[in-house]
This record gives sequence, C-alpha cells and structure tokens, in this order.
Amino acid sequence: MKRIGMLTSGGDCQALNAAMRGVVKTLVNDKQKVEIYGFLDGYKGLIYGNFRMLTGNDFSGILTKGGTILGSSRTPFKTIQDPDENGLDKVEAMKQNYHKLQLDCLVILGGNGTHKTANLLRQEGLNVVTLPKTIDNDLWGTDMTFGFQSAVNVATDAIDCIHTTAASHGRVFIVEVMGHKVGWLTLNAGMAGGADIILIPEIPYDIDKVIEKIEEREKNGSRFTIVAVAEGAISKEDAALSKKDYKKKLASKKYPSVSYEIADRILQKTGREVRVTVPGHTQRGGSPCPYDRVFASRLGAEAGKLILDGQYGFMVGYKNREIVKVPLEDVAGKLKMVSPDASIVKEAKLLGICFGD
Ligand code: F6P
Repeated sequence: MKRIGMLTSGGDCQALNAAMRGVVKTLVNDKQKVEIYGFLDGYKGLIYGNFRMLTGNDFSGILTKGGTILGSSRTPFKTIQDPDENGLDKVEAMKQNYHKLQLDCLVILGGNGTHKTANLLRQEGLNVVTLPKTIDNDLWGTDMTFGFQSAVNVATDAIDCIHTTAASHGRVFIVEVMGHKVGWLTLNAGMAGGADIILIPEIPYDIDKVIEKIEEREKNGSRFTIVAVAEGAISKEDAALSKKDYKKKLASKKYPSVSYEIADRILQKTGREVRVTVPGHTQRGGSPCPYDRVFASRLGAEAGKLILDGQYGFMVGYKNREIVKVPLEDVAGKLKMVSPDASIVKEAKLLGICFGD
C-alpha cells in the first residue's frame, strides 16, 4: 500500500496531466494498492490541507488535456519560511499535513521556485520525488523539461503567422516570446520560425546592431524583418546598470514590455514603424504536442518506479538521451541558461541570425 500526495506548482504548462497520469498508471499497473491525495492549487493545498482523494479513473482521458487537473499557483520560495497573514508557519503546516495523512511520498511537479521548496521539504525529512515542468526549459539537471516543446510549437505558429503578413506589408515585426531570465524558448521558436534577429536575456543587445541588420536586409532586397524577442531581453546599456537602477527603470513602466521599447527605439532612430505581437500565455496553453505527451509519460513512469523502489529525494530528468534521477539538492536554486558560446547560438549565427551583439 502506497499513500501518495501530488501537487502541481508555479506557472502551468502543457503535459502536466500527462506526467501525473504516467506516475499513477505505473503505480496502478504494479497492482499496488494506492491512495492518491491530490493537493489543490500547488503548495497552498498542502499548507492548508486542501486535497481531493483521487483514483486511477481520475487520470483516465487526460493525456491530451492542457493545464492541470489539480490547479496551480505560485507560492514564492522567498517567503515560504515567513508566517502567513494569520501567523501560520507554512513549512510546519505542510509537514503536519504530510504526517497526518501518513503519506509515503509527495510527487511535486514544477519549475525552479517549486524545486527550491521541494528541496526544503526533503531537508525537513519528507519523501519527495519531482518532475521538471516549465515552458522555459531552464531547470538545471535536465536537458529538457516538459511543456517546452509544446510552447515552442505555439510560439513558432505565432511567428509563422506574422511572417506572411510581414511579407505582404514589408514591415519590421517583433514577436515577444515568454522567458524572463532565459532564452531557450525564444531561441528555438525564433530559429523554427525563421526569425532574422533573436534577442535573449543571456546576450545583451545593441540597438544599433539590430538596426544594422534590418538595413542590411533591406539593402539585399528583403521587404521585411522578423525579430523574436524574449520577455527578459536586455540592452547593453541596461545590462550595465546596477540591479537596483534596472529594477527602478522597469518599475517606471514607460513601456508595457521590452519589445515596445525596442520598437520605439527603432522608430526614433530610423522612422520605421514596427509592429509588436505578444502571444503571451497562449504559449502555455492548449494540448501538449506529441513529443511532450511521450516525454512527460516517460518521466511519470520513471517517477512511479522510484516510488515503488522507495527511492526519494530525486528529480526525474533527461540527460544525453537517457531518463535519469538527479538529487534534488543539485537541482534547487540553479538555472540552466543559454551560453552565448553554445553551439546552437554559433549555428544560428552561421545562418545569418543576428543576436544584437
Ligand atoms: O514560468 C513560466 C512562465 O510562463 C515564464 O515564461 C513567464 O515569464 C512567466 O511564467 C509568466 O508568469 P505568470 O503566469 O505568473 O504571469
């Protein structure tokens, strides 16, 4: 008999349901008697004891369903050890609920912040197995996170659609792709969509280099330019600011986002009108792509196996084409960023893509 608590935390993504289904199918398939406690809306459910008892049937028919049947929310790690507004010790509350329900383990699906809290719970003596979800693909210890490929598909579709209208009108278009700290999604969608310029947080851009590229294309007879910009793209000037001054600048809200600032700077410097498209949360929505369905199912199955073997304290990840278990203490608090020297960046440059550097 296994008693499993399960929760999905942080921004949602495609294939969360597929991953949970993978875990449960594996346990049920082993003919184990399982009790599944689905905590609602992420860590909140565990803190306040909000859960639903689930059976294998609840996980039937959800392989292709986007979102999460458990709901999700952000419970920032930064304040997890602070009491809530009623003075409740949140970490203690999570431990108490875990012990009260006599759980054997928690299965936690999430990204960076979620993994910091999962590691804290492990340090506090709870059995934890985690699964790497995020459209940002920025979790350390895994080459891939589920949700990423589906989001690449959505962002690429957006760039594809912009391409045809940009070509008709001979315009410069910016498509803003999700990713505040890392540029994996922008880089991959940008390359897949044939963007001419890709701006990501890891490579601060020089606006004059961006304009040079646009003008070079026009000189060579191209009527339009597509710029894929990550939410967190940053100019060389801004990258040189202190953290405090940069935050102050962002707080002034002169522009809704970095793309509008880039568009305005191009207009001011060249008189060209630039159009901005922000697909936003559509990138996290809809049905998971086939890759993510298979990938999340595989991760879920391996997580189920770890639970059956009584191996806890790991994230199930993917390294060099193998599913691996990575100690949680190695994952927590680290970001997997795009190195400006990564071979994918070099290859993109060989193709003539400008990074504004
Ligand atoms: O963590 C995934 C992510 O979609 C990021 O790419 C994006 O910057 C952020 O979440 C958006 O967060 P929220 O849904 O809280 O607006």
